[in-house]
Amino acid sequence: MIQLNDTYIKSFLKGNIGDFQPVVDNIHHMIHNKTGKGADFLGWVELPNTITEQLPRIQQIANRLKQYDVLIVIGIGGSYLGTKAGLHFLETPFKQTKPEILFAGHNMSSTYMVELLNYIKDKNVAVNVISKSGTTTEPAIAFRLIMDQLKERYSKEELQSRIVATTDQARGALYQLSKAEGYDQFVIPDDVGGRYSVLSPVGLLPLAVAGYDINKMIQGAQKAYQDASTSDLSKNVSYQYAVLRYMLYQKGKKIEMLASYEPNMQYVNEWWKQLFGESEGKENKGLFISSALFSTDLHSLGQYIQEGERHLFETIIHIDTPTKDIEIQKQDNDLDGLNYLAGKTLSYVNTKAEEGTLLAHQEGQVPNIVLHLENVSEASFGYMMYFFEIACAMSAYLIDINPFDQPGVESYKKHMFQLLGKPGY
Ligand code: PA5
Repeated sequence: MIQLNDTYIKSFLKGNIGDFQPVVDNIHHMIHNKTGKGADFLGWVELPNTITEQLPRIQQIANRLKQYDVLIVIGIGGSYLGTKAGLHFLETPFKQTKPEILFAGHNMSSTYMVELLNYIKDKNVAVNVISKSGTTTEPAIAFRLIMDQLKERYSKEELQSRIVATTDQARGALYQLSKAEGYDQFVIPDDVGGRYSVLSPVGLLPLAVAGYDINKMIQGAQKAYQDASTSDLSKNVSYQYAVLRYMLYQKGKKIEMLASYEPNMQYVNEWWKQLFGESEGKENKGLFISSALFSTDLHSLGQYIQEGERHLFETIIHIDTPTKDIEIQKQDNDLDGLNYLAGKTLSYVNTKAEEGTLLAHQEGQVPNIVLHLENVSEASFGYMMYFFEIACAMSAYLIDINPFDQPGVESYKKHMFQLLGKPGY
């Protein structure tokens, strides 16, 4: 379901991808036998298979939450980006899902929070609060402020039907709090880190509430799991991608830009940025991760990509079959000069823009890895999530980094807590 085209990268590489087979074999065994750095956090590798027994309960609770107007997903980082990516990838533009899915706890903007509280005050509201640690400041504050309103509006029994907590099995304030209040809980397994949790109840519950088929999503992830079960570099496209980006990094490329020609990729980009940025950016190593949407950003970043400093490469996600298409019609007067495109579809023009850009960027010394994604569907979404997760693990191990911790994130928290006067800081 994802194929890699290396046409626009070959001329930049010395050596052969096959040269990396022994090291890839070694890392593949490290991942599957849990012998590498951060091995306690490899539960996501089997998630496409292990999650299936939970799908009926996820769907059952999702069906209950569907009766409300609005579901607020409270979470930050890996606790919300996968859901946001899935919603944006699968949604029909200009049409709201029912219930409407809103987000909170991913920022601490007072304006955002007050506007959100105003927006929901006359609506029939449900909440899915998601925090693995159960103690992250941003979602914890958002949950308290939103619950202050909801407790005024609903009885304890009503709240028990409307609130679902997704959190660690045993630790953390959210677990204790939701248990004490009698809210339904979903468990984020100990060995699944936040940014690898989209295929757990973290992503699946809100996506099911929005009406998407989570069984198909998991079937897509299972296909990606099977495709990635071999370490053979001629067959495993996730590993091909990981090795190519490693080879470019070794050649001095410092920035990877993920780009697509479909706007529904916007939050896949954001999810991917967290996955790779937080997994690899350690010990003064790792590619800097950025993203763009073309052709929109060709009219802003395009100049830099073509002629700025030569330290970046692009990874393009090409969607092979667009969900909708439209033909450009011939006009008698041709005042806009577009009759040369008459009879062509807009997706054809979009693809030619992509091919033209690939040629231009290659001329400008910017290598391009092209990943072909079959279509926009639940199965493709599940496939793509797993594809990048396994590629990310391979990639981080190639530069000898633990892909599953995030020690650097603690620094801002320490300073913030000191400034806020949190006890113990
Ligand atoms: O990938 C990660 O582990 C992090 O980005 C977390 O998802 C993020 O910090 C939120 O943590 P928590 O779910 O514990 O609130």
